[in-house]
Amino acid sequence: MKVLVTGGLGFIGSHTVVELQNNGFEVVIIDDCSNSSVKVLEGITEITGVKPFFKKMDLRDKAAVHQFFKEHNDIGGVIHFAASKAVGESVEKPLLYYENNLNTLIYILQEILELESSNFIFSSSCTVYGQADKMPITESAPVKPAESPYGNTKQIGEEIIRDTCKVTPRLQAISLRYFNPMGAHPSTHIGELPVGVPQNLVPFITQTGVGLREELSVFGDDYPTPDGTCVRDYIHVVDLAKAHVVAMQRILQKDNDKNYEVFNVGTGSGSSVLEVISSFEKVAERPLRYKIVDRREGDVITAYADTTKANQVLNWKAESSLDEAMKSAWDWELKIRS
Ligand code: UD1
Repeated sequence: MKVLVTGGLGFIGSHTVVELQNNGFEVVIIDDCSNSSVKVLEGITEITGVKPFFKKMDLRDKAAVHQFFKEHNDIGGVIHFAASKAVGESVEKPLLYYENNLNTLIYILQEILELESSNFIFSSSCTVYGQADKMPITESAPVKPAESPYGNTKQIGEEIIRDTCKVTPRLQAISLRYFNPMGAHPSTHIGELPVGVPQNLVPFITQTGVGLREELSVFGDDYPTPDGTCVRDYIHVVDLAKAHVVAMQRILQKDNDKNYEVFNVGTGSGSSVLEVISSFEKVAERPLRYKIVDRREGDVITAYADTTKANQVLNWKAESSLDEAMKSAWDWELKIRS
């Protein structure tokens, strides 16, 4: 069956393409390469032995999207990763984020509804929970007012899908709320390629470890957590990618009465920033230069997932430990800098 992966050359997208191909799906990719490279195609091909079809395209071009679906009317499912994801940038350029993340979602959904089978998976984020009142976070935890336009696009995106599903029973959709993805494919053929200075913790750590950055700034050590630093649920990107395959398989079975579902995708356990640093020091066998600085605005204190629903309904569980995920991130960093 043919699956369209938008943003399929990006970090999570490329790993998902690999897992889809490993599970017998035919993959077509749309990506505008604004935050990725066509070279990723080579990595995917190296791992799977199959080069997916690729079209460079900006999804804001509604006519081009329509034309693409006309030419590929045998698409049986869509996984929609393509979106802008820099929280700080979204505060500076809200309209760009609403246009990139929401117009494109609408155009894609409009086309999907014209297909013979309408199956859709959306990249959402644990950011929709804000600072949740209870840990671990279940899917029924309230969605809190978004801290940024980026976060708001994920909340509104979910609402757009839910409202569309309500009036379109033949549309089967799942939103996956990712916790903190990290790591790389163990083959080191694909991994994370942040543009400029990384905003996320793990690529900043590995770039510091390799000497590209002088030192890591730890944003606050006076939080009400065991060691004072923020706690997150770091999930190996390959585990996260596999969740998309099982989610797609679930909606293809169409044997459940709900046509819209939401799942947390995390490991179920939290790690502090200092624990992540220790993991790096262990797997890379070197100390990491870091200093404690002020808290970063907008950071939640603690967020980790209750993954019971994904475990039970999707029969999916994250398999890799933090150290294994860190080892893959480090191997990848060493490879791209060599
Ligand atoms: C961030 C976004 C989140 C988005 C996700 C996508 C914010 C507030 N949240 O999540 O909405 O869905 O990225 O990947 O930006 N840290 C440091 N030093 C650094 C970088 C990070 O101490 O240089 C700390 C942060 O304070 C945080 C943890 O590391 O406690 C993880 O940060 P990060 O990787 O940016 O992810 P989130 O903030 O959880």
